[in-house]
Amino acid sequence: MTDRNQTKESPEKKAAGIYAASLVKNGDAVGLGTGSTVAYTIRELGRRVREENLQIKGVVTSYQSEAIAIEAGVPLTSLAETPKLDIAIDGADQFDKNLIAIKGGGGAHTREKIVSMSASRFVIVSDPGKKADVLSAAVPIEVMPFGKELVMDSLKKLGGTPALRAAVKKDGPVITDNGNFVIDCNFGEIKNPKELAKEISQIPGVVEHGIFMNVTETVIGKADGSVEVIQK
Ligand code: A5P
Repeated sequence: MTDRNQTKESPEKKAAGIYAASLVKNGDAVGLGTGSTVAYTIRELGRRVREENLQIKGVVTSYQSEAIAIEAGVPLTSLAETPKLDIAIDGADQFDKNLIAIKGGGGAHTREKIVSMSASRFVIVSDPGKKADVLSAAVPIEVMPFGKELVMDSLKKLGGTPALRAAVKKDGPVITDNGNFVIDCNFGEIKNPKELAKEISQIPGVVEHGIFMNVTETVIGKADGSVEVIQK
């Protein structure tokens, strides 16, 4: 799992993030993900807007990506105004060889899923540490506070070990940008992520889980500034 408090530069994340910004074309509507890797993409898009007169409109997935986009000078729109996006770019906590990803380390996965599912192309930007043979990262699940107990119990019945995500610098649980809780559920090695995704979705009170099956390509940055691109 990513260190959410990471403040120092990561050459791997930077390489991936900047490369992904080069995939954005003039006139594109772009989904802007959340996290430290896609932050490089958003800032690079801002540079292209300023220096190359790139004409784009971004849709943000969190207060964090909104703040970075505004600071970088990326013009913004909404899904209400622009429901179909050309491309969405975002980070991930882990992904496998089929490009199934686990996301939500920053608690933004519900909006990230809505935005990425609105896009024709969904690019994950990552450092090499996120690639796994078999998914095993804890799955973030956004839940309505009212349904927390039922969801926790149902996740245990699915073989998981759920933990309510605690806030940092606030007593009690994390509250998402949507006013909900996040449960991180450890399932060990996830042999069938598609089936697990379906089962979690059926639990009443679950707003959205962090298993993503709509990734079209992944950009993995290297320390020397090069990238590996994996297409689905
Ligand atoms: C946000 O909720 C997450 O889905 C992030 O996109 C994911 O945790 C990747 O974050 P980093 O790019 O900071 O590793």
